[in-house]
Amino acid sequence: MGSTFDDLPDVAIARDLLRRWWGLELGLAEAGGGGYVRKSHAVCETIHGAAPAACAGALAEIAAELASSKSRDPVIRQCHAGLILVVAPVFGAHGLIGVVYATGARAAERPLAEVGEGLAAIVGSPAEASAMAGAVPVLGADDVGRVRDLVVSAAAAVERVQPAVVAPTTFSHPFTEIVGEAAAVRDVVKLLTKVVKSEATVLVHGESGTGKELIARAIHYHGPRAKKPFVVQNCSAFNDNLLESALFGHVRGAFTGAVKDQPGLFQVADGGTFFLDEIGDMSAALQVKLLRVLQEGTFMPVGGTKPVKVDVRIIAASHKDLATMVAVKQFREDLFYRVNVLKITVPPLRERVSDIPRLAQFFVAKHWRSAKGADATVPPRLAQGALARLVAYPWPGNIRELENEIERMLVLAGDAPELTGAMVSARVAGGAHTAPRALRDVIATAEADAIVAALGRHGGDRDSAAQDLGISRSYFDARSAALGLGASA
Ligand SMILES: Nc1ncnc2c1ncn2[C@@H]1O[C@H](COP(=O)(O)OP(=O)(O)OP(=O)(O)O)[C@@H](O)[C@H]1O
Ligand SMILES: [Mg+2]
Repeated sequence: MGSTFDDLPDVAIARDLLRRWWGLELGLAEAGGGGYVRKSHAVCETIHGAAPAACAGALAEIAAELASSKSRDPVIRQCHAGLILVVAPVFGAHGLIGVVYATGARAAERPLAEVGEGLAAIVGSPAEASAMAGAVPVLGADDVGRVRDLVVSAAAAVERVQPAVVAPTTFSHPFTEIVGEAAAVRDVVKLLTKVVKSEATVLVHGESGTGKELIARAIHYHGPRAKKPFVVQNCSAFNDNLLESALFGHVRGAFTGAVKDQPGLFQVADGGTFFLDEIGDMSAALQVKLLRVLQEGTFMPVGGTKPVKVDVRIIAASHKDLATMVAVKQFREDLFYRVNVLKITVPPLRERVSDIPRLAQFFVAKHWRSAKGADATVPPRLAQGALARLVAYPWPGNIRELENEIERMLVLAGDAPELTGAMVSARVAGGAHTAPRALRDVIATAEADAIVAALGRHGGDRDSAAQDLGISRSYFDARSAALGLGASA
């Protein structure tokens, strides 16, 4: 923790101001016995030299109090030598990990003579003590407030780079590919255990990017049809003719270009599961054909005369509410009842915010492994500061958007051991999309996006990315650093 402390930008700023304005030093004492190490000025040196354990003891006492109270408030009090001690706690995964402190000043309202007496008890000579008291920096009430704010900001910076805490899961179920344990997710998983055993048609409803396809796959691969095909067709992908031909196939000569019989996806899926994505986008004509498959298990290929029989379990998904579509006659009611036998509603990410840390960590591991191969070393840590930003964002694009963000951060991180708050995209870190933005920020965002995209195109290779952007490698590194885009790999 010590070496990163000095390197953190917010710590450097706080330290610089404390030194320049009041001649005070900023220190970090680790809860595990790091003790008092940074002495502010010559008087502090002398006090420390006379009784080093007392200095460490004054700090340790406050640290012990903070550790047991778990209070996040900074503490301002006098040290054993009568000088101001400003202390802010740093908490990590398992409680207090240390304190950031500044010490060595005299409160303006405290009489000089009184401080001299206190110092005399430590150094012996009253004359020397009174000279020392006179040399100590003096803080008015406003100054104390500023010192406190700087110490707190440094402590917050240390806290932000601590690895994010994700409690081990307490929810075990066979669908390990489905991450999360928010109440809404538990409900879905409970329902899934029943759904996989049945053969009934399932309707999966949920916003875009919430995991509808993930759930459809889980139903198939955890059920009795697992060894048979799982076929996916998005009903909004093609025009009507093409979709019909894709789903049901066609016979030779059915239309210009139909030079031979072509089986449709329903035949491909025979014995298995057919996932019909965005079923709400299906035309009225195709809805009739689909109804027949659901009622009789048969369909007619385009241009065909003989019905084809298949055994297919259907899972349909829609981000639109089919019941509403029925009410406005955009979806056939009879088909709706055939499809809506078992309905699974997938909650949007905003209804499972508590799962964001777990999902984020899962995606870090998933994409790290897929980029580095199965024998990859440990994935980078997710810093608390990065996680705080991810949790604060409303995620309109749901889980897919979160996953994309993590992938982007991994590209940026290169081989860095940590995903930091600075690697979170400006859009996500900035929260609301509509907030007014300074031109400077707009440019910085565009620049950062161009750098990220170039890195993505070149698998993280910075030389190629720089070349692609028409800039030198050194300028590329300088801009990346200035934009907070992580260390060069
Ligand atoms: N609970 C979850 N645990 C782990 N990964 C998830 C979870 N939910 C979604 N994902 C991942 O998020 C991504 C988006 O999920 P999926 O494609 O299933 O969503 P969708 O609802 O079908 O999205 P769209 O509406 O865009 O088609 C996938 O990579 C999926 O693996
Ligand atoms: Mg989908």
